[in-house]
Amino acid sequence: MEEKQKKIIVTGAQPTGMFHLGNYLGAVKNWRTLQHDYECFFFIPNLHSITVPPYVPAELRKRTYSMLAQYLACGLDPESSHMFAQSSVVGHTELSWILGCLTPVGQLFRMTQFKSKSENNDFVGSGLLYYPILMAADILLYNADCVPVGEDQKQHVELTRDLAIKFNQTYSETFKVPEPYILKTCARVYSLQNPTKKMSKSDANKKGTVFLFESPEDIQKKFRSAVTDSGSGIYCDPEKPGITNLVEIFAAVTEQSIEAVENQYRSYDYGTFKNVVAEAVIEHLKPIQAKYAELMADQTYLQSVLDKGREFAQKCANRMMAKVYRKAGMI
Ligand code: TYM
Repeated sequence: MEEKQKKIIVTGAQPTGMFHLGNYLGAVKNWRTLQHDYECFFFIPNLHSITVPPYVPAELRKRTYSMLAQYLACGLDPESSHMFAQSSVVGHTELSWILGCLTPVGQLFRMTQFKSKSENNDFVGSGLLYYPILMAADILLYNADCVPVGEDQKQHVELTRDLAIKFNQTYSETFKVPEPYILKTCARVYSLQNPTKKMSKSDANKKGTVFLFESPEDIQKKFRSAVTDSGSGIYCDPEKPGITNLVEIFAAVTEQSIEAVENQYRSYDYGTFKNVVAEAVIEHLKPIQAKYAELMADQTYLQSVLDKGREFAQKCANRMMAKVYRKAGMI
């Protein structure tokens, strides 16, 4: 019997440092559950991470290996998925040029991420404006069906869809139009210090962001000082963004439904519930932290994973770029 072709997933996380709970619960933990049902390209978008200079090249190199170790420590399987650095595959930047020529510049200026990242910056490089086109190229190069991301990346996937349609109409049917895959809970994990703002690596208030590889003491402290709401009771409500965020985090790390958590903890006071969440997060992260330390000590292995992933990805990219250039009249 002919084997049914798996649908394709493309996604990645910038090598800008350590994952925080937002990256993990909103993205990577979900990728893990999808990896055996889809053909997955989990790449490391290192070209994207130079769009907000300055950066230190040696540091970026180290962070790229660290990001791979984080993927693996979080349970992504290099045997069944393709993991590689974006810069190591020829095709991402080539395709982004072709797509860029189809993109109205006004649409790029309207991107929420462009606006927030260019705000209050003396220098705004063109790369930051071009960023969503490179992301569209990452996705279309492998003809993805589905792009699992957090809520903050949805607008970029919508642009990708627009560009796939535009290319198909301008030249001829080439790309599938990919769907974003966004979780119902944890699509946006919020800062513990400001529960209306997403948890972010670049937040100036480090107390709001819980990193995956922090010590249990620091994690405990951050949850203890989490900003909560007035009133009482542990349940989700738009009027209670602080408690809603904690309930979502707790439900995700303990693999329970929101309702189950609300039923069990509804009568707890805020302080006690914060401790319960901290303990659950610490326990959940223990094996991930141990695995990460082990992986980081073996750079030869990390390089072999990247080499294997790159080899496969390059073949796919070559096929797609040959098609794209042919359709676009390039010789
Ligand atoms: P990045 O590196 O900022 O984030 C990696 C993933 O984590 C998600 N995420 C969150 N989810 C929930 N709550 C949060 N507070 C939170 N913060 C981050 C992001 O949505 C993302 O899924 N542009 C991308 C990288 C990229 C990419 C791509 C992704 C480049 N090319 C192609 C998919 C496909 C980015 O900067 O993600």
